[in-house]
Amino acid sequence: MTSAPHLHTGVSVRVPAKVNLELRVGPPRPDGFHALATVYQGVSLFDTIEVFPDKEWGLAIGGRTAAGVPTDHSNLALRAARALADAAGILRPVRIRITKEIPVAGGMAGGSADAAGTLLACHRLWGLDLSPAELAQIAAELGSDIPFLLTGGTALGTGRGEQVAPTATRGTYHWVFALSPRGLSTPTVFAECDRLRGDAVISPPQPSPDLLAALSFGNAEALAQAMGNDLQPAALALQPELAATLEAGMSFGALAGIVSGSGPTLAFLARDAEAAIDLAVSLTASGAAGDIRKATGPATVGPIEVATSR
Ligand code: C5P
Repeated sequence: MTSAPHLHTGVSVRVPAKVNLELRVGPPRPDGFHALATVYQGVSLFDTIEVFPDKEWGLAIGGRTAAGVPTDHSNLALRAARALADAAGILRPVRIRITKEIPVAGGMAGGSADAAGTLLACHRLWGLDLSPAELAQIAAELGSDIPFLLTGGTALGTGRGEQVAPTATRGTYHWVFALSPRGLSTPTVFAECDRLRGDAVISPPQPSPDLLAALSFGNAEALAQAMGNDLQPAALALQPELAATLEAGMSFGALAGIVSGSGPTLAFLARDAEAAIDLAVSLTASGAAGDIRKATGPATVGPIEVATSR
């Protein structure tokens, strides 16, 4: 007689990547972080995070962009699960399985998405009832953009990026992302930004009213005019070859092209779905960009679902 395979039941959630429509960077604070004013938008490249009860803590990573992600205890998802367990007094380990689609070290918050998804999934698996603010507090201690990725959508980020408030947004935005074969480290990009600024006096960062208005009207052209990233000069200084790709994207009809977050991924806003296809084809066919992804925004965190594993 053969016994039925043993099924483990866990929970699963999909978390989007993000692009910063605007990223204004203030001077460094005493704690080493920089004051930010940023407008985040979730975009439809998703990592899937599943958690299962197990005898020991564990992590497995697969998917299209899995290469190079640490699977040891430095992994942000594993640290997130343990941080939530500590905060809630939970002594039940989980095995985390992540299927990655978000570029790694690309300025699209892939590691942060995995941490946010792990917090949401473990919160459900363990039957906890933390408030959204309590969960956001744990998220903020793990990384500045993790609170945003507990929901996704479109939101204004202040403080060091961890204080988020949803913004009024209409419409769907069509994006083409050009991935870089080499990643960039976020602290290195912030340090380069400081170095390039030298002794210049930097005023407190503010989001642009034009950008918030463009979003509330659903006007992609106006949004394109208002987009900007204070980390872009630093990312371009560290990877000068990005400049030619940015120029190519604009010549192929993008409404705007910017470095995504701390880079090196480049984000191009297209007029509509058809223009996004044309842009993606032109960037690839011309050789101006190797690895391309199309996505739409705003994208939100998916529902928490049941997951099974052998
Ligand atoms: O918060 P997170 O872990 O994502 O930040 C990674 C690094 O990026 C920080 O250690 C810091 O060097 C830099 N950073 C910053 N100011 C911010 C966010 C990040 O200087 N607001």
